[in-house]
Amino acid sequence: MLVCTLIAARGEEQTAFTVPKFTASQTCQSASCHGGGVGKDQSVTWEKKDVHSRSFATLSTNRSVRIAEALKIDDQTKSARCTVCHSPLSAVTPDKFVKGAVPDKAVSCESCHGAAEPWLRFHTRTDVTHEQRVSAGLRELEELYGRANTCVACHLNIDAALVSVGHHPEMFFELDGQMNAEPPHYKDKGTWIGPRAWLTGQAVALREISWKLSKNRDDDLVPRWKALTWLLRKTEFSTPALADTAEFSAIQFAADRVARNASKSTWSKEKTAKQLRDYVTLSAAFREIDIAPVEQQRRGEVILLAIDRLWVALKKEGAAKSDNFDASLKVLGELSRGQAQFDSIKFAAALEQLEVALELMGKP
Ligand code: HEC
Ligand code: HEC
Ligand code: HEC
Repeated sequence: MLVCTLIAARGEEQTAFTVPKFTASQTCQSASCHGGGVGKDQSVTWEKKDVHSRSFATLSTNRSVRIAEALKIDDQTKSARCTVCHSPLSAVTPDKFVKGAVPDKAVSCESCHGAAEPWLRFHTRTDVTHEQRVSAGLRELEELYGRANTCVACHLNIDAALVSVGHHPEMFFELDGQMNAEPPHYKDKGTWIGPRAWLTGQAVALREISWKLSKNRDDDLVPRWKALTWLLRKTEFSTPALADTAEFSAIQFAADRVARNASKSTWSKEKTAKQLRDYVTLSAAFREIDIAPVEQQRRGEVILLAIDRLWVALKKEGAAKSDNFDASLKVLGELSRGQAQFDSIKFAAALEQLEVALELMGKP
């Protein structure tokens, strides 16, 4: 009898240990922790500036009400079809919280950093390394690969009906731009992080789209999948596995390898400028007549993001400056987004303008 209870108790202990509990963000927000001054103001940044703090409130806007009506959802503020991304802790059962915790509404700290109970008490100690915190369950977000995997979970694949029937915004994932837009409550160490984040993110996006397509073919997604594969083929991380004849699952694995390599890659002025030049000289690809217009449009979207991020990185590191290039990039953006119908010939011409602007600028 005694033995039985001992085993049972030990079993319980083990469960408690292996299923980390959420503490909810009130534990993070005190002034002496992350709700304070310089270097301790992550909660303040999140609450005042980060869109994620408003993601639950979004579910009560008129637009959300209309989305819910179109999809016949009774209460979008309670439906897991919405809260899974807009308020993930709302769907977590009470036993997964520490006693007394009030589940956050919105995309809060633990949505990205992981359930805090196992590491909360010791993560501030200065003798504890990052690796020790991570092995205790703090999610690895310093590495861009882990970071991209976290963000992409809510930022790319969405039930197609939400977009087609409900008019939910279509989702694009581009890590570098979205990190900067968030805005970040952290400062990454090192230089040339932008291009690395861009490429890691695009490879992770391709992996996720490939995975989705391998489970469930969705014809609307195929042109995006092809465009991203095309984009990655034009990088130094391209492998024969990224062939345009490859199957979804093969591309899924190839893209994951690109993401892991890109996450660890180092970039320089020369390398960033070369990648930029390789993209702006692709105008001929937009004149190929055997590529479907919708695929051309998707190529346009991904190459625009690529050129934009590479150019922003060069400017940020003080390695390039050209009003001509800025102006031509604006035209390219308008041709990609603003048009009801994508005009690939005009887009090709705008790319040529960028090529000229880059040449006039000389070697960055
Ligand atoms: C748990 C889901 C979730 C995770 C994880 C997540 N987001 Fe979001 N994100 C959202 C939701 C929901 C919105 C929409 C907020 C609104 O407007 O109501 C959003 C909006 C944004 C926006 C503004 C809209 C846009 O796309 O430009 C940015 C930028 C953004 N997130 C960046 C990030 C980054 C960077 C990461 C990873 C570090 C990340 N997000 C992780 C759910 C998530
Ligand atoms: C897969 C994750 C996911 C799901 C599920 C989801 N959303 Fe979103 N939602 C997002 C993200 C990410 C954004 C920001 C996209 C952007 O701006 O690019 C967003 C944006 C929105 C916006 C626009 C916000 C703005 O002000 O621009 C509304 C409204 C919205 N979602 C409502 C809903 C509703 C209602 C549901 C459920 C029917 C839902 N969402 C389900 C992730 C999700
Ligand atoms: C959308 C995802 C996301 C959310 C939500 C989020 N974080 Fe972060 N946080 C990150 C990323 C990405 C990093 C950068 C990687 C790192 O330093 O570990 C980071 C870094 C940090 C850091 C390290 C700061 C530095 O300068 O190195 C702290 C502290 C932090 N977050 C606290 C919080 C707190 C507190 C909240 C809730 C109020 C929160 N985070 C919410 C994604 C998020």
